[in-house]
Amino acid sequence: MRQLLIAGNWKMNHTASETETFCRNFRALGLEDHKVEILLCPPFTSIPAMVSVLDGTPVHVGGQDMCYVESGAFTGAISAAMLADAGCSHVLLGHSERRQFFHEDDANVNLKAKKAIEKGLTPVVCIGETREQREKGVTEKVVRTQLLGALEDLSTEDILKLVIAYEPVWAIGTGLTATPEQAQEVHRYIRDVLAERTDDETAESLRILYGGSAKPSNAEELLSEKDIDGLLIGGASLKVDDFYQMIVTGDKLNS
Ligand code: PGA
Repeated sequence: MRQLLIAGNWKMNHTASETETFCRNFRALGLEDHKVEILLCPPFTSIPAMVSVLDGTPVHVGGQDMCYVESGAFTGAISAAMLADAGCSHVLLGHSERRQFFHEDDANVNLKAKKAIEKGLTPVVCIGETREQREKGVTEKVVRTQLLGALEDLSTEDILKLVIAYEPVWAIGTGLTATPEQAQEVHRYIRDVLAERTDDETAESLRILYGGSAKPSNAEELLSEKDIDGLLIGGASLKVDDFYQMIVTGDKLNS
């Protein structure tokens, strides 16, 4: 059985001091003995505070992006080695906001995935269609292209190190969650593409998270779907109680 992963993407929210407060309150709720795996991705400047307050807990810390180059003259960029050295185990790649506002494409995501794996980070590769694309009926084509593009030249062994996140762009930050059936349909399709790209066993063992207006009130129905193996949570991960509640929901379903 795939262990559920409950992940928070804070985006550009929470300063280092706000992060410290969040993490103290989060820790006080009890972080040991959960059945789900937990990941939080704060802004770069908040990583040290998070790593320090959550030290000794099983919570993973991740970056929200990284540069595909090893090091050098790339003003403003953060490398995979820097994330790993700061205490990160994961990194989000290809989030739709990176694609939309920073013009990232599949080739870029692919280079980043390779570099992340080389440096021992677990890439969480984000894919998903826009509202226009869904209305045009090209959802499957879009997620297939994004997925195969991100995985280009990766060995099965390396693909096994990834987490995939399906995040329909029209559901992100809009309050419009995909219905569990809509999400399941695409998750199943993604797993089929993974099986085609690798093999059945690999595809069955990979985790595919859902993201897009996931919140305490819809977590259970989403996580009950067969091919939804966790959540990538934006807005609702900014509040300790909401995020924790979603972890508890995951625990219940993972047992
Ligand atoms: P949301 O964001 O939960 O606020 O919709 C999800 C994401 O972008 O990862």
